[in-house]
Amino acid sequence: MKIDVIALFPEIIIPALQVSILKRAQEAGHLTINVHNLRDFATGRHQSVDDYPYGGGAGMILKPEPLFAAVRALSPGPDARVIFLTPQGKPCTQRIAEALSLESHIILICGRYKGIDERVRQKLVTDEISIGDYVLSGGEIPALVLIDTIGRVLPGVLGDYESAQDDSFSQHLLDHPHYTRPADFEGMKVPEVLLTGHHEKISRWKYEESLRRTGTRRPDLLENIELTEEDTDFLNASCTNGSI
Ligand code: ADE
Repeated sequence: MKIDVIALFPEIIIPALQVSILKRAQEAGHLTINVHNLRDFATGRHQSVDDYPYGGGAGMILKPEPLFAAVRALSPGPDARVIFLTPQGKPCTQRIAEALSLESHIILICGRYKGIDERVRQKLVTDEISIGDYVLSGGEIPALVLIDTIGRVLPGVLGDYESAQDDSFSQHLLDHPHYTRPADFEGMKVPEVLLTGHHEKISRWKYEESLRRTGTRRPDLLENIELTEEDTDFLNASCTNGSI
């Protein structure tokens, strides 16, 4: 998969692409990421990328010409996704990241200042994504968030031992608690069942702990899954938030 990022501050993004999983994904050829500086597509003596809003109001708007030039220079095919990162977009979820991981070419447009000229949205942008209901200073960090969530679910990127299969959200549930050695740390003991080697019981424990966590912290997620009667009984008995 190829991801092109158009940003005014590539220096926010580039260092994070050079470590850990994203670095490995690029080295192994699963992912090609290029970050382009929007200013390189601006013309004129000052290479200005922003201008005052028509109709007045606070803040500057990213001009259409450099954004159109940048996207056109990347020659998006008919299937390319051109995604604008904005708090007005669709909230990013694990499902969206999984769906995007199947694409072959994604172009991410990072906003800055008050926003972008609406004609960029109308003509170039295929999708708008938000990483949460809060406002950041620009789209660079949201672009990184999206690249990271997509990168780690690309086939072959994570080894078996770090598989994304049981991440929080992958099965619409939050992840269960984890323990490592020692079995007794300052009197706090690892749950007995995890030491038994009994795979079936351990799987059930993990599932129930995921249910408990989800029911307690994010009961809204339970609406997306089919619960058995046993699951519902377990939740009623073990969730303390009174919402189930
Ligand atoms: N740009 C600024 N805030 C954002 C957000 N919450 N999500 C995506 N892009 C943004």
